[in-house]
Amino acid sequence: MEPDRLNSPDTSAILFEVLGHQLQFSQDPNSKHLGTTVWDASMVFAKFLEKNCRRGRFSPSKLRGKRVVELGAGCGVAGFGMALLGCDVTSTDQTEVLPLLIRNVERNTSSIVQMNSGSDSFGSIRVAELNWGNEDHIRAVDPPFDYIIGTDVVYAEHLLEPLLQTILALSGPKTTILLGYEIRSTNVHERMMEMWKGNFEVKIVPRAKMDNKYQHPSIQLYIMNLKPLERTKITRECVDQPIEEVETGPIKNGSDEDCDASCGVDEVTEVEVENASGRMVPVPDLQDKKLSEWEARRYGAMAARLLRDIKIS
Ligand SMILES: C[S@@+](CC[C@H](N)C(=O)[O-])C[C@H]1O[C@@H](n2cnc3c(N)ncnc32)[C@H](O)[C@@H]1O
Repeated sequence: MEPDRLNSPDTSAILFEVLGHQLQFSQDPNSKHLGTTVWDASMVFAKFLEKNCRRGRFSPSKLRGKRVVELGAGCGVAGFGMALLGCDVTSTDQTEVLPLLIRNVERNTSSIVQMNSGSDSFGSIRVAELNWGNEDHIRAVDPPFDYIIGTDVVYAEHLLEPLLQTILALSGPKTTILLGYEIRSTNVHERMMEMWKGNFEVKIVPRAKMDNKYQHPSIQLYIMNLKPLERTKITRECVDQPIEEVETGPIKNGSDEDCDASCGVDEVTEVEVENASGRMVPVPDLQDKKLSEWEARRYGAMAARLLRDIKIS
């Protein structure tokens, strides 16, 4: 994307309130690059941090000064969630996405710093190029990190291996990996789980732990740590660098069963229709109710999926 497209009429802005800050992310949905759009899993991720930051491993007292790298950052929403809790974030993506990412980082950082003058709750956020699998890029961001984060970075099978290798190369023995993504393909999802479970202890965040509104059955969040055997394989110089152990918060492996009615994604009644691939998808019964911005996003996602499945003969 050329920098002069940043202010084109096609550029739209997403206003997103998180951790008491009104953030604004420019996006360019008409570009050919996926990274110039804010994806829903990034909002679910940031709102999950907001909900769980009062105590435990995601509280500012535990996160202050932690080094975080965000992979495939896009417009940078998830990284801001961590930076607002005190982390020093390196937000990375491919070169085509960087002009928009830099602009979003600069604009939001300056508004947070202005609003927060005198307070040290905001950490920092900087941008770097990182193509998965590129050893020079990986070295340049100076691993290992305390946290590796990514939202909606799992969507194509051919990217799973370079993504995994990049995560391993950025990890130290105590690195925690936080990933969020929307399941769009069962094949990719199953392959991903197989690869990750081979390397990490994988915990799935139950929906009851997510924000009541910013969640959806197809969007999952994962908290992962290297398996003991994988930890011993990591033999970089910095392996012995002390990284304070993060306290395990009250997150347990769980299903949606412990999620009460209040954490349902919508307040509107849902019925289901069968799409062209035979899957059941919910449709809203709107009656007189207005859609919230989040609900509108989710129904937009559903419409896109239905349209994708329609075969025009
Ligand atoms: C669907 S977008 C998600 C963007 C953002 N994380 C969000 O949730 O809004 C996928 C992101 O992964 C990045 N990506 C895809 N392949 C990559 C690669 N090989 N190396 C680095 N980033 C890559 C894209 O540039 C894009 O920003």
